[in-house]
Amino acid sequence: MFKKIKRLKDERKAVILAHNYQPGEIQDLADFRGDSLGLSIKAAETDAEVIVFCGVKFMAETAAILSAEKTVLLPDKHAGCPLADMITADKLSKLKQKYPNALVVCYVNSPAEVKAESDYCCTSANAVEVVNSLPEGRKIIFVPDQHLGRFVADRTGRDLVLWPGYCATHVVITEDDITDTKAKYPESIVMAHPECTEPVKELSDELLSTGQMLKFVKKSAAKHFIVATEIGIIHALKKENPEAKFIAASDRAICPNMKKITLDKVIRALEDMQYKVMVPEDITVKAKTALDKMVGILPAK
Ligand code: 13P
Repeated sequence: MFKKIKRLKDERKAVILAHNYQPGEIQDLADFRGDSLGLSIKAAETDAEVIVFCGVKFMAETAAILSAEKTVLLPDKHAGCPLADMITADKLSKLKQKYPNALVVCYVNSPAEVKAESDYCCTSANAVEVVNSLPEGRKIIFVPDQHLGRFVADRTGRDLVLWPGYCATHVVITEDDITDTKAKYPESIVMAHPECTEPVKELSDELLSTGQMLKFVKKSAAKHFIVATEIGIIHALKKENPEAKFIAASDRAICPNMKKITLDKVIRALEDMQYKVMVPEDITVKAKTALDKMVGILPAK
């Protein structure tokens, strides 16, 4: 299957991008694997004609906006993001009316229409830098993830208006998951994604995006890590650090949408050029302004 995909990829002048939560074989197949920020930068930079995006819809939409002249394919058209769907452009407009002078920062896990209504986009890797770059004293609306929003408010000391969105995969990780796992592996470092709930984050040693987790482990002298995020990242962590041990904080932290992408579907995507992700031009133009700022602001080291 890998050989077949390679042949099809060459024929189509395609590049395969995969998120760190993808099934292991998809990560292994990809030309580039990364977090939301890394994948957005790759999508903007690549000279391939076709991008096969192994991730969820908002990621493929982001690639389509940043590389409007390319064909972006999502191998499963139902691979969505429930968090992204918790906000709409209409709901955001109503919130903006309540705070007419506020700047809007939207997490990349959002629909294209919401990005188009926002001033800045961010990922978990650069949300703190994006908010810190905004003028002091300006009110900031942050949508749609309340847990990432609280993390950003905490790190920046800024007063954010939050939207009550959450990631269903991250909120299943409980305080007990952390304390019980830590009791079994007391010498380990707990790395949690900022989308986790506040009690989980308080019990964790490091709050990092998936890409930052990979960088952190590389530099760390520790050999045991508890991982509080979607378990797909453990494949990448193990592959890059075969001598270290990684323990999932919860085996229930599985994103069903990320796991919809299979090798069969990647083959079909390349054979039939499906499913094309298209964003209307007026939305693309407006959303790109917010996204360009996101890819231009460097992630935390
Ligand atoms: P990262 O940007 O950390 O990879 O996170 C993506 C995501 O969707 C988290 O749920």
